[in-house]
This record gives sequence, structure tokens and C-alpha cells, in this order.
Amino acid sequence: ANDRETAEQRMTEVCELLQTSIGYYDWVGFYFANEAERTLHLKAFAGEPTDHTVIPFGKGICGQVAESNKNFVVADVKAQTNYIACSIYVKAEIVIPLFKDGKNIGQIDIDSHTADPFSEEDERFLEWVNEQVAAIL
Ligand code: SME
Repeated sequence: ANDRETAEQRMTEVCELLQTSIGYYDWVGFYFANEAERTLHLKAFAGEPTDHTVIPFGKGICGQVAESNKNFVVADVKAQTNYIACSIYVKAEIVIPLFKDGKNIGQIDIDSHTADPFSEEDERFLEWVNEQVAAIL
């Protein structure tokens, strides 16, 4: 239990660093999968608190990434039909799966108040961030 608390504290620090240092990262969180329940659970975040701390696989952008194992870059959230709105200010979102020993165990989720802000550079950077986080889990 102590090890997990430490990992969650470190992930919170990662969220805070990303959210404060990158202007268009307005909300940053890590969700992790409960495979038996087929749900995602919010374990660390920076930004406004969200009601969506538990998300079923398949639901929203996050739930789709839990099943696809692929990056999901949303330039315009209004164009998405399977989307869970957390804030009226959010215009775009990026979700990158987090792999541990080749298995999709969770994801980093970033919301932006800026329209279409995410590039391939963000994808490569966040893949790297997730590799660093996987190493402390
Ligand atoms: N928008 C996400 C839900 C999580 S909130 O962005 C924090 C989705 O559609 O899965």
C-alpha cells in the first residue's frame, strides 16, 4: 500500500508539472484499468476536479483507448459522438495508453481549452512520459 501511495503522489507531481508548464495542457490525469470490472479509475490529476473518476471501458475517449490500445487525438471534442464532457471550456483532448510489460494498464488524459492544439510532438512526448511512469509502477 505504501508503494502505491508513493506512485500516486509521484504521478500527481507529474500531472502538476505538465499542467503548469505547458500552456495548452489545462487538465492532466492518469486513469488505470480494473480489468475484472472493465472500468478506468482516476488515480492522479491536476486541474479542476472531475465527476468522471470511474469510466467504463468503451465509454468516452478514455474508454475507447482502454479497448483500442491506441493514441486518440481529438482536435474538436464537439465532433465526437462517444465523448464524456468534463467541462464546458474543453475544446480538445489527447489520450495516450500507458503500457507496462506490453500491456495497456492505463492512460494519460489531457484536456485543452485551446482549439486543435495537439501535434505528433505531443504524442511522442506523452508516450515518453508514460514510459517513465510505467517504470515506477
Ligand atoms: N473526456 C473524457 C472523460 C474524462 S475527462 O476529460 C477528465 C472522455 O471522453 O473519455
